[in-house]
Amino acid sequence: MNIIVTGGAGFIGSNFIFHMLEAHPDYRIICLDKLTYAGNLSTLKSVMDKLNFRFVKLDICDRSGVYKLFEEEKPDIIVNFAAESHVDRSIEDPSVFLQTNIIGTSVLMDACRKYGITRYHQVSTDEVYGDLPLDRPDLFFTEETPIHTSSPYSSSKAGADLLVMAYHRTFGLPATISRCSNNYGPYHFPEKLIPLMIANCLNDKPLPVYGEGLNVRDWLYVEDHCKAIDLVIHKGRVGEVYNIGGHNEMRNIDIVKLICKELGKPESLITHVKDRLGHDMRYAIDPTKIHNELGWLPETKFAEGIKKTIKWYLDNREWWEEIISGEYQNYYKKMYEGR
Ligand code: NAD
Ligand code: TYD
Repeated sequence: MNIIVTGGAGFIGSNFIFHMLEAHPDYRIICLDKLTYAGNLSTLKSVMDKLNFRFVKLDICDRSGVYKLFEEEKPDIIVNFAAESHVDRSIEDPSVFLQTNIIGTSVLMDACRKYGITRYHQVSTDEVYGDLPLDRPDLFFTEETPIHTSSPYSSSKAGADLLVMAYHRTFGLPATISRCSNNYGPYHFPEKLIPLMIANCLNDKPLPVYGEGLNVRDWLYVEDHCKAIDLVIHKGRVGEVYNIGGHNEMRNIDIVKLICKELGKPESLITHVKDRLGHDMRYAIDPTKIHNELGWLPETKFAEGIKKTIKWYLDNREWWEEIISGEYQNYYKKMYEGR
């Protein structure tokens, strides 16, 4: 089995590659990644020399490059993680989100039609469903919840999902989509809530909580997400959407306080800053379908996963210190200074 994993130098894609090489040592994994600011080759260091692994630096929007790779590798399965993934950046500049997340997805699917594959899998997000009110804890996103997006990021992901369904219906592309809640774990880029707060705590820097910090996210350990995708690409029904989430809802403020506690830092580091525009209040996934059809259940409890994650950031300081010492400084100033 030859599998192309796009965006494999990013957070979830790299964890997925590690999972697949371990779970299916007989598969060949080809990582296609543009290496944007969010992609790091150092993340893939431990697998670079494996005979059944290949890294290719390529933009998913580069049609001729993508076609050439398909000709060379004759992949059976494509798993598309490649995306611009940060909501705050999409508010600053939506254009690259439309380019990579929508146009890039169409280029990959055109290649799949031209060369033939057994499965195209689109890694999507629960954010395509918009948000839920805080005073209705009985409501959850199911696969039938209407698409109702809030940010340029989630709109671009929703646009891609609609295209995937259209390619399935119109051209018979054997496609599946998974929509997952917020992930956390190793190799998470420190612009996102959990790694940003860990890095700032360790550097005794202010912890910028947007607004009151009452927004709720449904957190899932990244390995559990990877195992779910492994199941969907092998056993999921084509043309179907699978929601992935762990019934682990937490308020942002409680997560930040927990990180302070775990690292022995004072809560006085917490600084409430101007809220995000269009900020979604609550995400919450109903994972009944993937549980009933594919037997998936999350394995890592949040209390254990956050400890493992914090330990990873303590043990791998060089990985994130290198990131935050570069271009990230300009990003941080632009987004947080005087906020
Ligand atoms: P990430 O930002 O950490 O990584 C994205 C990767 O894609 C990077 O390696 C980057 O270099 C690469 N990339 C970007 N544009 C590219 C292009 N044009 N061509 C090729 N490669 C390109 O993102 P992530 O958090 O790992 O998310 C991966 C996928 O999972 C995304 O599609 C995202 O929408 C989805 N998702 C993420 C979460 C989450 O909590 N992080 C939750 C649900 C779904
Ligand atoms: P994020 O990790 O960007 O994921 P998403 O917006 O895709 O859910 O943010 C998670 C939550 O944390 C979200 O409600 C915004 C909030 N947040 C902060 O309060 N401060 C920050 O510095 C960041 C990056 C996020």
